[in-house]
Formats: sequence, structure tokens, C-alpha cells
Amino acid sequence: MILDQFLLDAKAGGPPEDWAKWRADQANQTERVIIIGSESWFLCYDGKQPPGTGLGAACEARNLRRRIYRNAGINEDIRVVIFDEASAQHISADLELYHRFHADRDFDNILRWLNDAEQNGKGMKAKECQNMAPHSFAPIPLPSFSPRSNLPTIQRFFDRETELAKLLPDLHPDATGWGALIDGPGGMGKTTLAIRAAELAAPGHFDDIVFLSAKQTAMDPHGPHDESPFAVSGFTQMLDAIARRLQKPEITQAPADERPRLLIDALTGTRTLLVLDNLETLTDADQRSLFAFLSHLPRTCKALLTSRPLVIATGRRLKLQQLDQAAALQTLADIARDNPALAAAPEPDRLRLITQTGGNTLLLTWTAWQVGSGYCTTIADALAHLRSCPQGNDPLQFIFGDLLARFTPEEERIVATLSYPTEPIPVTAIAEISGVDEPTTRRALKLLTNRSIVLPQEGEEKYALVPMVAEFIRHARPDMVKQM
Ligand SMILES: Nc1ncnc2c1ncn2[C@@H]1O[C@H](COP(=O)(O)OP(=O)(O)OP(=O)(O)O)[C@@H](O)[C@H]1O
Ligand SMILES: [Mg+2]
Repeated sequence: MILDQFLLDAKAGGPPEDWAKWRADQANQTERVIIIGSESWFLCYDGKQPPGTGLGAACEARNLRRRIYRNAGINEDIRVVIFDEASAQHISADLELYHRFHADRDFDNILRWLNDAEQNGKGMKAKECQNMAPHSFAPIPLPSFSPRSNLPTIQRFFDRETELAKLLPDLHPDATGWGALIDGPGGMGKTTLAIRAAELAAPGHFDDIVFLSAKQTAMDPHGPHDESPFAVSGFTQMLDAIARRLQKPEITQAPADERPRLLIDALTGTRTLLVLDNLETLTDADQRSLFAFLSHLPRTCKALLTSRPLVIATGRRLKLQQLDQAAALQTLADIARDNPALAAAPEPDRLRLITQTGGNTLLLTWTAWQVGSGYCTTIADALAHLRSCPQGNDPLQFIFGDLLARFTPEEERIVATLSYPTEPIPVTAIAEISGVDEPTTRRALKLLTNRSIVLPQEGEEKYALVPMVAEFIRHARPDMVKQM
């Protein structure tokens, strides 16, 4: 209770009345009182301090005691907040019987309790607090707790408001389920969105954010680079990394089949947000084990996952689509701040870049970066460079390469059929040209849609390849295209 200091922040000359009266008024009239008391403050409250010390506190205490006494012991408006369990032993006997808050664990409830007062017309609106008058009161600004976190920084972030609005409720501790998966094509901005969502979800709900990536290779404007020193390579390594983070290294020594349960025990009672990135690199068996593990996650913990299109995921899933045009233009303007050649590019060229990269944030940023370097002086040059699938620095290979490796023979024939025409083709024609029977063709096209390789049109009666996939296949697999 250091109300006088809050008043002095707002009104350097102090109150117009004497301090004793002002303090008494605050203690009597304040609708909701939070006591963050030291041992000596509670001694004052109990009248156990030597005469002459802690007079201000003793005066506040007398008024608060009187408030409770007048209400026949019913106390709705005064609460003690402690920062650690040890300090609970100093609370006065009079106050100890009432509910108290833990500053960190109960942060949300403190806010709800204060808001209840506001909604009942008892409390004070935020705006009013800023213009604190001598007879008003200031809610004690609670410390804002930054969770412990190893989230990497993000370079830039625009829009994704709709996606954040969908994700954040799934990460709320009251939500059912273990959290959410962001899935979508390579380079669509999944990791960036997950980091932003975790930053927004954590305050007040999580004490620790554990970020783990299974991404072995990352792509920058100069080409792919090895990320394996920072990555986990499988489910067990993921559990071990979480165990070390929780300072339970002994779990990493236990038999592998016992570690999931031991880790769930270790997570129980903690408020941990797990951000597990790029799960498509895990084997199918590891992905299954991970989802089984997540289904046992304690309610106080949540997980946010990212993956390129996965088939076996369970739980909440957000399919990440392209960045919208306004945000893509903002992204280009941001890159152009350090790139005079891009800054000189007219808006129609920037719009062409956005359309031709399909709103894929990696393709957009990579291509924008090429403007003003190497042989590229314009956006048109950079787009031609992207389409040429440059050896050793090919973002199309980075994004689509693994998909190509996983095609079944039927999928190969269907994709090859679609790789030349510029117009969408009817399903019947795709089946006829590829020589794959129609029911199998329809099933394969649905699977390819979910993997963001083809685009359905006219209610799944016609299909076209995603334009950049077509470019890539023509370059990377000319043999496949020639068969048709
Ligand atoms: N909302 C955004 N605004 C601006 N730039 C973005 C945004 N989202 C992502 N980016 C940029 O796009 C690039 C790719 O993003 P990110 O790595 O998050 O994609 P990803 O979907 O996780 O890729 P991968 O499939 O390879 O894991 C990064 O350079 C990132 O800075
Ligand atoms: Mg990623």
C-alpha cells in the first residue's frame, strides 16, 4: 500500500487536504483494495510495530479493519496479493481467512475481480485512472510478468488478424483441447505466425514458452542453410529438450517409453506453452506419438504446432493461406527500406510480384530480395530468376521439393497432365489423358488439393496446378512432363 506514491506520480504537489485525511479517505472509499504487504506492513496492521514507526500504514490499516468490521466480517473488496508462498506467513490473522491471490498464478482472476467492480459501477474506468483526482483512487499497477521464453525473433509481421483471432482462443487455458496446429504450404508464414501468436497468448497465462523446431534446413535470400544444430530430430529428442528446459534432466536418462509419462508429470502444475515447429520432418510414427503425448497435456499447458500439410494431425487445425494483398504490399515496402532498387519499383510491378508468387511469404520476400542483386535490377528480372530454379539457391525446390519426392505413380501422371495447360482441365479429361481411372483421379486430386499442389475450380469439376508448382515441375522433372 503505497498510495501516496501513486498520487505523487499524478499530482506532484500532493493532495489539497492533509495526508492523514487523504490516506483515510482512500482506505475508506476505494472500491477495491489490493494489499501487497511486507512483513512490517502487516505488523502495523496488527498494531505490533513500535510506537512512532509505520504511522501511515497503521492509519490505512485501522480504516481497512473498520471497513471489514462494519460489514460484519463480509469482505468483498479487500484482497491480499502475495508473490510467493513464503510471504503468506506474515499475513495478519484478520485477513488470512479471506481469499488471497498469488500475483503470478492468479493474474487473470485479479483482473476479473477488478473488472467485476468496474462492471458493477463500483470501479474506475482506465481513462479515469489516468486523470486521478485527489479523492479518486488508483488501482495498483500490477507488475506485468514476462514469461521465460526462447522464442526466436521475427523479422517483420503484417496482418494475420483473422488467423490470430482464431488461434488465440485455442491457446487460452480455459479452452478444451491441447492447443492448435498451423498447417499450410512451405514458406506460407506458419512459423512467423506461431511465434506472434505465442507472444500474444502468453502474458498472464503461461510462465514459460518452449520453442523447439524440427526444421533441419532453412532458406534465406542466399540459399538454404543448415539448421540442424538448432533443431530436434525426432519425438524423443523433443521430449528430452522439453525435460532439460524444465530442469528435469533425469527424464532424459529414463527408458524411452517411460519418458512421455514422466514429462507429463513434470509439466503438471506448470503453465508451459510449447511451440513445436515444422513437424512434417518427423516420421509418421513420431508424429503419432507426439499427438498421443499432447492428448495427455495438463490443462494449464498448451501447444502450438506448425507443419507443412500433414495427413495424420488430430485436434484444432488452422490452414494457413496466402498473405493478403495489403499486407504483402506492406512487406515489400518494409524490404524496400533497405533496397533502393526495390523502392524504385512501381506499384503495378509489385502487384505482379504478389500475384505471381501466390501470396507465399517466402517466395515474395526471396524474390523481392533478388531485386538489385546479381543480374536482377527489376522485379521482372527477379521473377524470371525465380522461375529459372537457380541451382543452389532455389526456393521452389525448398518449398515443393519434398512433395515431388512423395508422389505416387498415379499422382505423378495426374500432375504431369496438369503441368502444361494454362486453363483448368475437367476431371474426366485429366483421367483420360493420365490413364488413371476416374475415381482414383478424383481421390488423388482431393489429396493434392490438401497438400496445396492443385487448385479445384467449379466445385471440384476442374483442376489447375498451383502456378509456381507448375514452373517447378517443368524445371525439376522434365522427364515426368515428357511422358504425357
Ligand atoms: N505476416 C508476415 N508478414 C511479413 N512477412 C512474413 C509474414 N509471415 C512470414 N513472413 C516472412 O516470410 C518468410 C517465411 O516465413 P516462415 O518461415 O514463417 O514460413 P513457414 O510457413 O514457417 O515456412 P516453412 O514451411 O519453410 O517452415 C520469412 O522470411 C518471414 O519473415
Ligand atoms: Mg516454418
